[in-house]
Amino acid sequence: MTNSSRFTLHASRLIVGITGASGSLYAKRLIETIPANIEVHLVVSENGEKVATYELGKNWLPKRKLIRHQINDFFAPIASGSFKTMGMVVVPCSVGTLGSIAGGLSQNLLQRAADVCLKEGRKLVLVPRETPYSVIHLGNMHALALAGATILDANPGFYQRPKSIDDLVNFVVGRILDHFDLPQRLHKAWKDASH
Ligand SMILES: Cc1cc2nc3c(=O)[nH]c(=O)nc-3n(C[C@H](O)[C@H](O)[C@H](O)COP(=O)(O)O)c2cc1C
Repeated sequence: MTNSSRFTLHASRLIVGITGASGSLYAKRLIETIPANIEVHLVVSENGEKVATYELGKNWLPKRKLIRHQINDFFAPIASGSFKTMGMVVVPCSVGTLGSIAGGLSQNLLQRAADVCLKEGRKLVLVPRETPYSVIHLGNMHALALAGATILDANPGFYQRPKSIDDLVNFVVGRILDHFDLPQRLHKAWKDASH
């Protein structure tokens, strides 16, 4: 499977990382809507788990078939470039994890899996949520974009006249799925939008 960018999409596997930035609803919606034929490999940071529980309640993880890896399990397949995937999305991505990935620190499995995507030339979509951004955050985003990552921040558009929080969430999640060439019906392309 290929897409139009310089990246090659390998296998029907997608890695989803969740960190402790606000916006766990984006992650929940994404996991719910990734097509069933895609093998989802999930890794959640310790604070990702805590913030998701705080924002969405105890049973926040949607019931779908997925493979969950522990955050410090460096023996997991996604820690190795030899395990082929179509890439990874980190949603929401804290500015802390963003900085660690930009610095190549690989301090936990999530950061390592992201680092693997960069070194292997696979798609890495980062969905930071913070405001305002400091010059350090912006510098890290710049470095990551140069390294091949896509910075797709949690920044919904309003031109489709959203009527609910769900509409706003769907806009961002739809854009994430678009970036992996995965089918989605969460939002329409601009020229298809009807008002
Ligand atoms: C309720 C709550 C909301 C937070 N929201 C954000 C946020 O929007 N963006 C961010 O970068 N960090 C946010 N943080 C801080 C991160 O959770 C913190 O920096 C943590 O160390 C991130 O670790 P992780 O990247 O390993 O998940 C929030 C923390 C809490 C408790």
